[in-house]
Amino acid sequence: MRWVSRISAGYLVFGAALRAGSLNARLASQVARLIAESGADVDLASMRDFSMPLYDGDAEYAEGPPEGALALCDLLEWCDAFVISSPEYNASFPGVLKNAIDWVSRIQPQPFKTKYALLVSASPSQVGGNRGLWALRVPLEHLGTRVYPDMFSLARAHEGFAEDGRLANPGQQERLAETVSAFVHLVEADARYVCLQRRWYEFLGDRTDALVTQRAEG
Ligand SMILES: Cc1cc2nc3c(=O)[nH]c(=O)nc-3n(C[C@H](O)[C@H](O)[C@H](O)COP(=O)(O)O)c2cc1C
Repeated sequence: MRWVSRISAGYLVFGAALRAGSLNARLASQVARLIAESGADVDLASMRDFSMPLYDGDAEYAEGPPEGALALCDLLEWCDAFVISSPEYNASFPGVLKNAIDWVSRIQPQPFKTKYALLVSASPSQVGGNRGLWALRVPLEHLGTRVYPDMFSLARAHEGFAEDGRLANPGQQERLAETVSAFVHLVEADARYVCLQRRWYEFLGDRTDALVTQRAEG
C-alpha cells in the first residue's frame, strides 16, 4: 500500500516477519499510518514482498541478485528513509532479514548508505523485542545507514493493539507518535536542506561568476 503526496520525503515501512498474523506487521502498519498523517509519502511493504533464497556467492556470480532483493533495492532507492518493525529471535533479529540485508548489500551503489532508519519492534515478552533492535543496528550502521537513536518496542504486543490498529494503551500510542514525529522532522529537515541547497546553487548559477566567487570567499 502506498500513500503519495510528492511534496515531502519518501518512507519505506515494513515488518520483518513472514507470518500472516505478524504483530510486527501490525506495528509497521500503525507507523506507516502515522507517517502518512504527517503528509509524507509512504510505501508499506511486507517481508513477503522480498522473498529470496539464502545468500549463495555462486548463485550471485551465476545469476546476480534474486528478484526479492531487487524489489527491496528498488524501494530503498525510492525512499529517503525506512522503518523496520522487527521481531526478536533469540535476542537478535530474524535470519530472513539478515539474509535480505546481505543480498541487497551486494548491489552497487549500495542502497542502505545515507538513508535514515527508525527501528521498532513488537513482542509478547516484557521487553518488546528491544534486544533484537540493538543487534539490527550493527549491519545497518556498518552499511552507512543513519539509524535514529531512539527506538520503540511494544511489550506484551499480543494484547497491545486496539481494533482500529492503534495501540491499546493511549500512553504507548502517544510515545509511538512522538518517536515517529521526531524521526520524520529529522528526515524532512535533511530532505529540505538538500533541496534549499540545490536551489541556492541554481540561483547563484543564474548570476555572474564573480558573484559566486565573492559569496564563496565572503
Ligand atoms: C525462533 C524464535 C525465537 C524467539 N526468540 C524471542 C526472543 O528472544 N525474545 C522475544 O521477545 N521473543 C522471542 N520470540 C517470540 C517472538 O517475539 C514472537 O513469536 C513474535 O510474535 C514474533 O513476531 P511476529 O508476531 O511479528 O511474527 C521468538 C520466536 C521465535 C519463532
